Amino acid sequence: MSRVPEPSVFLLLDEAKKRARERGLRVLDLSIGSTDLPPPKAPLEALREALEDPTTYGYCLKACTLPFLEAATSWYRARYGVDLDPRREALALIGSQEGLAHLLLALTDPHDLLLLPEVAYPSYFGAAKVASLECFYISLRPDGLADLKAIPEEALRRAKVLLLNYPNNPTGAVADWGYFEEALALAERHGLWLVHDNPYVDQVYEGEAPSPLALPGARGRVVELFSLSKSYHLAGFRLGFALGSAEAMALLERVKGVIDFNAYAGILRMGVAALNTPREVLRGYAGVYRRRALALAEALTGTLDLLPPKATMYLWGRLPEGVDDLDFALRLLEEGVAVAPGRGFGPGGRGFIRLALVRPEAELLQAAEAIHRVLTASAPRGEAP
Ligand SMILES: Cc1ncc(COP(=O)(O)O)c(C=O)c1O
Repeated sequence: MSRVPEPSVFLLLDEAKKRARERGLRVLDLSIGSTDLPPPKAPLEALREALEDPTTYGYCLKACTLPFLEAATSWYRARYGVDLDPRREALALIGSQEGLAHLLLALTDPHDLLLLPEVAYPSYFGAAKVASLECFYISLRPDGLADLKAIPEEALRRAKVLLLNYPNNPTGAVADWGYFEEALALAERHGLWLVHDNPYVDQVYEGEAPSPLALPGARGRVVELFSLSKSYHLAGFRLGFALGSAEAMALLERVKGVIDFNAYAGILRMGVAALNTPREVLRGYAGVYRRRALALAEALTGTLDLLPPKATMYLWGRLPEGVDDLDFALRLLEEGVAVAPGRGFGPGGRGFIRLALVRPEAELLQAAEAIHRVLTASAPRGEAP
């Protein structure tokens, strides 16, 4: 069995976007979760200063990451009231995507079973393939959460890792503490690792996103991945961190030790400054996405079937019965709007599209009009979309 993932549907879309632009079309790109909001000033300033400091230029081994890991564990203590050891229970990542792929390699053997939702961040499927894992796809409940009760006993018996992500890309679904208690109990009962990818922790529209690592008894079994990409709009700098089980951290560190020497020390200093961003600033960013989500959801009422917006920079919408998501995305591109076809997010994604809220409200409303136009044009005569 090859470890090399199949080319993704996003490559095809990328190619179509490039061709559309070459034909002179202005493309409103809502297909990628790369924000248009500016990062806070302090992290960029810290990076600028680091560039002037030649002691940052060399390889950055574990000791050099410690100030960042201390900032990460302090951040976690301030948020969730749990004290973690920065030396044993934290690790710097070159983004959460890198961390997840290597974590799967660290925690599993080839042909182990991974439990993950049938709709998920595309990279999970590729990461499973790279680690030669088999996958069990958990169906989604109507509220968009993976239906833990729907996992058959046989799959639970065989599985090694349960992988979750709330607030979720692409659905925007948010889990409450009770949901994570259920997930942790399941993981305990069946000896699973509970891996929680949490890059959207700051993008809930109301209240606080729960963190399974903060639950009693979680520290031996849970690994949580955090990212600087979404909270602080620093995606291109590639920085994140893992917190959780010391055993899992040690395994991940050994795998990563073969592959990388951590991010540039200046980027880690940037990360320390980012993690000290005042909470009101982060709430302000979430407020922007909330306003955009509500405006776009309202404009799409009656056109797409949407989950109520609660978090993240995405809306996930079901297309009318019989409309193919990829075909629709390509037709919409002809109207100058790029969205992500649902099939790119796993076997449960067919018939859906994901809209990234990465443009100002007025442009999102133009996109809604284009979506309506394309669906109306393709609906059988006499039928509303
Ligand atoms: C669920 C999820 N995990 C990870 C990532 C990537 O995060 P990073 O930039 O930290 O690698 C994304 C980016 O869209 C995401 O949606």
